[in-house]
Amino acid sequence: MLKKVLPITAVLIAVIGLMVACDNGQSTDNQAANQSPNDEKNTNHSEEQEAALPQPVLEKTDQGEDVKALQKVLNKLGYQIPVNSNFDEMTTWAITDFQMQQKDMPITGIYNKTTKQKLQKTLDTNGKVNPGAALEQPDDNQKIASNPHEILVLVNKEHSLPNGFKPKNLVVPDVQFPFDEFREKKQMRKVAATALGKLFNAADNAGLELYAQSGYRSYERQDAIFASNVEAYGEKAANNVSARPGESEHQTGLTMDVTTPDVGFNLNTDFGTTDEGKWLKEHAAEYGFIIRYPKGKENITQYQYEPWHLRYVGEKAATEIMNKGITLEEFLGKK
Ligand code: DAL
Ligand code: ZN
Repeated sequence: MLKKVLPITAVLIAVIGLMVACDNGQSTDNQAANQSPNDEKNTNHSEEQEAALPQPVLEKTDQGEDVKALQKVLNKLGYQIPVNSNFDEMTTWAITDFQMQQKDMPITGIYNKTTKQKLQKTLDTNGKVNPGAALEQPDDNQKIASNPHEILVLVNKEHSLPNGFKPKNLVVPDVQFPFDEFREKKQMRKVAATALGKLFNAADNAGLELYAQSGYRSYERQDAIFASNVEAYGEKAANNVSARPGESEHQTGLTMDVTTPDVGFNLNTDFGTTDEGKWLKEHAAEYGFIIRYPKGKENITQYQYEPWHLRYVGEKAATEIMNKGITLEEFLGKK
């Protein structure tokens, strides 16, 4: 009898052991997302499990249980943000501040796969985070962007950049320009420059001739451009095509004006009718870019139609914005 029972018991133990091993081995994003804090009684890590990380990607304007789970983790790491299931300014701040405290990590304000991995590692190792050490908590002043590092930052006539803001990680993207020498305006933030390189490659493969013309501009440079436009066209007309210093997206390093030989390398509305302009409208979002000032939305953007002005916001937001035919203001619920 004992002889019979023993092998069965052994098989049962082996099967249970295997199930447990598989479960641990496959601790996928989905499982983490679906776990509720009370599902953890079978493990010895109730603390960690309570703060289970959800599935990426999550970003500003997202809502729901996954966001709530992320907020709980951020709380656990010391970020005193509301657990309200809304990926709001405070959540964006916490993610950005966390990213800024990591080594060699793209700073986006977006909870993506890499951010999840770093958060998980911090949890697992009881790693140190110093909330607010890299980026001050947002205040209530809605007119000045408190977090100019996040890639969904809104910069327009009502929301300016903080005084003296200069983005980190400016690099020259690996794309063609109509001029060879280095100029400040060749640069973009690395995260946007990498994406622009991919976009230009795809355009090249499609037989198109896309050129980058103007990316990062310092406050001082924008000041000079705006002043010269005011002198040429008057203040009102100038502000319809060019931003006041501190109110230009070019200062974020997330923007590139692009052009093509068919329009003499100029930045004008004819660019929208070229093959390059049409292709961009169709494909820019696949690389995380939007046409920031679309035709018919001038009352919202408060700028004229600019088919050449590409703004990096990341693939998820870009796809929604371009598919719905909306502006960044509308996406962020600011209009
Ligand atoms: N042309 C855009 C509005 C800028 O000057 O930033
Ligand atoms: Zn522009």
